Amino acid sequence: MSKQRKLEEVDEPTRRLIEQASAARANAHAPYSGFAVGAAVRTANGNLFLGCNVEISSYGLTMCAERVALFAARTAGTDAVEAVAIVGPGSDADPTPPCGACRQVLWDLAPEAEIYLATPQGEVRVTTVADLLPEPFGPHQLQRGDDGERSGGAS
Ligand code: THU
Repeated sequence: MSKQRKLEEVDEPTRRLIEQASAARANAHAPYSGFAVGAAVRTANGNLFLGCNVEISSYGLTMCAERVALFAARTAGTDAVEAVAIVGPGSDADPTPPCGACRQVLWDLAPEAEIYLATPQGEVRVTTVADLLPEPFGPHQLQRGDDGERSGGAS
């Protein structure tokens, strides 16, 4: 179940994370949609990694803000992701939710993370990856079954 908060009500590390996501949002490259998104990832040892959406003239090459941030964290060889903040346009009470592709990436790379979806006006929805992606496909499906085959794989 998600909870709704005001930016002033969240704890200091979370507020900082959301502010960093907002700062990354200012660098969004969104000339085609005009829809700017910023993301910030915090790992267990307190490191922050930022991302913004980057749109490419061949539209399908566009990358979402949260994936940029999560891949940067992974590239740094980071430990567990503790929290992810995402700031998009959103109306006052309705923060931008992550797209389906990003929910899958969150499940694979940050399954235990607290997720903060914030609007520029300071509304914050607090949720979890499990709530965002019910009945997920994930790494466990790729494990070998009892017959020694990868499930669904060619024999
Ligand atoms: N976008 C994100 O950055 N994150 C999401 O989860 C939703 C969508 C971006 C991609 C594209 O540049 C723009 O928002 C409009 O879809």
